[in-house]
Order: sequence, then structure tokens, then C-alpha cells
Amino acid sequence: MGKILVTGGAGFIGSNFVHYVIANTDHHVTVLDKLTYAGNVESITHLPGERLTFVQGDIADPSVVEPLVAASDVLVHYAAESHNDNSLHDPRPFLDTNIIGTYTLIEAARKHGKRFHHISTDEVYGDLELDDPERFTENTPYNPSSPYSSTKAGSDLLVRAWVRSFGLQATISNCSNNYGPYQHVEKFIPRQITNVIDGIRPKLYGKGENVRDWIHANDHSSAVLAIIDKGRIGETYLIGADGEKNNKDVVELILSHMGQDNDAYDHVVDRPGHDLRYAIDSTKLRTELDWKPEFSNFEAGIEDTIKWYRDNEAWWRPQKAETEAKYKEQGQ
Ligand code: NAD
Ligand code: DAU
Repeated sequence: MGKILVTGGAGFIGSNFVHYVIANTDHHVTVLDKLTYAGNVESITHLPGERLTFVQGDIADPSVVEPLVAASDVLVHYAAESHNDNSLHDPRPFLDTNIIGTYTLIEAARKHGKRFHHISTDEVYGDLELDDPERFTENTPYNPSSPYSSTKAGSDLLVRAWVRSFGLQATISNCSNNYGPYQHVEKFIPRQITNVIDGIRPKLYGKGENVRDWIHANDHSSAVLAIIDKGRIGETYLIGADGEKNNKDVVELILSHMGQDNDAYDHVVDRPGHDLRYAIDSTKLRTELDWKPEFSNFEAGIEDTIKWYRDNEAWWRPQKAETEAKYKEQGQ
């Protein structure tokens, strides 16, 4: 049995990973999370206490990080400022957490000789044209567009440099857009589902033609566990499930599954610098580590996600009004 330190384990993907590890392994999990506006400890408090320890703290604070790293076997680093729109209005927290926070963690992992897995995003590669036959691979050059994605790119490069210069025992994964339970209502899919529940029309940025490559959060978790178990040190693995959809199609699918006319949405002002398309080629992960996604039916996954938001209003309701007020100020 191993001891895993999960940063950001009260956030969307981190909490799904904690659920997944507890259900599918014997590992003990310690979550380190600052509980920013995006963190919700209720996403994990119902899990068995003997398998999980929760610590509230900042990954950029070495006095918090050091003892937790020393006491762990493996670190899995999810904590981040994660929302592109926020990074366009207030970039500073993205630098503090995504750059300085990652630096603080890899310094501690180096000092204590611990295995480190860095969670990153496909956004570090920039975007693709709609008709580009190519998809992102591990060899695509970095070309981030937003303050968020540029800080994630910076954090990836720090990890790579620590591997090469200091022999850090690290791997990196870059995943596409996740969906599933426990996602903050600021993000695209939960925003539209909870809007419909509240009688608000879904909001599409620009023409809605932007494409995202959707993967269920559980498939992201199984891929991360495969990389921790079998991944080669120093390597990067792209995680994706061949789930390309444009935003308009996703909104129409949500509306039709929620009993609404499928054109009952509004076009709103576009995101500045809005990446057009992401698409992942996950051949390396699939062939080298024998991984494959389980959630291949996006429509069924969206139906489950709608049900989860309907059934768990107490979880998301406290964030909804403030989130929508912020979007309204931005014309979105
Ligand atoms: P999220 O915003 O839902 O959760 C982030 C968590 O990190 C929150 O619980 C927050 O409280 C915590 N946190 C923030 N700053 C912290 C700090 N300084 N110290 C400690 N904890 C802090 O984000 P998410 O969508 O779950 O993303 C998690 C990770 O996965 C991020 O690294 C993100 O870049 C990456 N990622 C996300 C997606 C996606 O589709 N959401 C896709 C690929 C990669
Ligand atoms: O690709 C991985 C990335 O996916 C992660 O690194 C990020 O942390 C995560 O937030 C996500 O980034 P996106 O910017 O793609 O996600 P978001 O949910 O903000 O938006 C998805 C798409 O939907 C994007 O094209 C913008 C659009 N959108 C978003 C919102 C909130 C709308 O059309 N309307 C909306 O109300």
C-alpha cells in the first residue's frame, strides 16, 4: 500500500481522482488543497476516513508542503488556477499557484527523492484549424494562448528542467477537456446544465464553432494511475478519448436531454484569444501503457452528468449566483 499526496484534491478532476483511487486501489490519499473559490471539501468528505487525510494549505508555502512531501511516496499535482476566463481578468493568482506552487512542490520532491506526476493540459499546444487533419502529439511545439495556458506551459517546462538537471523522478500528462460530476459551475457544461435548471438560456461564446475534445474525468483518472504505475520517468503522455465536439452541438445535446427546444440558447460576446480547436492523439499512452477509455458514449455521459447536477443541487447552488453575476459583468 502506498501513500499518495494529491494536490488540488478538492477541485473537479482532483476529487474525481481521489474517488477513483479509493475505489480501485489500496493506496492511502492525503489531499493538500487551499480551498480557493474552486475547491469544495464536500466533494470528498463522504469518503472513508481511514483512507483519506485532508490538509488545507497553499502549495506555494514550503512550510506546508515539505512535511507532507516527506511523508508521501508519490505526489500527483492537480492544484491550479484552472479557468481561462478568470486568467484574462486577473492573471496574478495563475502565476502564484501554477508557477510558484509547482516550483515549490518539485523542490520538495527533489529534496526528498519522491516520485512526482504533473497534471497538465492540451492547451499548452495552442489551437488547431477546424479542418487540420493533424492532432496534438507529444512532439507538438508549445504555443499557449491565454495567461492560464501559458502558466501551465511554464509549469510543464519547470518539471522537464528538474528532470534533466536534477534527476527528478517525474512524468507529465497533458489531457483534453474533462466532464463529469463535481465540476464548478463556471465551466461550460455545468454552467449550461445549471442555467437550464434555473430557467436561464445557455450562453454560447461567439458562433459556438469552437471544438473541444471531451473526456470523462474517470478516464483521465485511469490514465493517470497507468502513468504512475508504468510510465517512463521523464516522459510526457497525452490523454484523450477521441471526443471532439463543437460547443454548439454540446449545448444542443444538453437542451434536448433537458426537455428544451434545441435552439433555446443565446450567443454572447466571445472570449478574447479564444482557442479554436483542441484534438489529442493519445497513441503513445494507448500503445505503451495499454490504456483505453471506458466512457466512449458522450451522450450517455452527458445524461449522467445532467442527472448528477439535478440530484446534487446543494453542492453547486452556493456558487451559482456569484458566478453568473461575474459573467453578466463581462457580457457573457
Ligand atoms: P479546479 O479549478 O476545479 O480545481 C483546482 C483545485 O486546486 C481547487 O480545489 C483549488 O482549491 C485548488 N487550489 C488552487 N490553488 C491552490 C493553491 N495555491 N494551493 C493548494 N490548492 C490550490 O481545476 P480542475 O478543472 O479540476 O483542474 C485540475 C488540474 O487539471 C489543473 O492542473 C488543470 O490545469 C488540469 N486540467 C484540467 C482540465 C479540465 O478540463 N478541467 C483538462 C486538462 C488538465
Ligand atoms: O483543454 C483543457 C482545458 O479545458 C483545461 O486546461 C482547463 O482547465 C479547462 O477549464 C478547459 O478549458 P476551456 O477554456 O476549454 O473550458 P471552458 O469550460 O471554460 O470552455 C469550454 C468551451 O466552451 C470553450 O470553447 C469556451 C466555451 N464556453 C464556455 C463557457 C463558460 C461557452 O461557449 N460558453 C460558456 O458559458
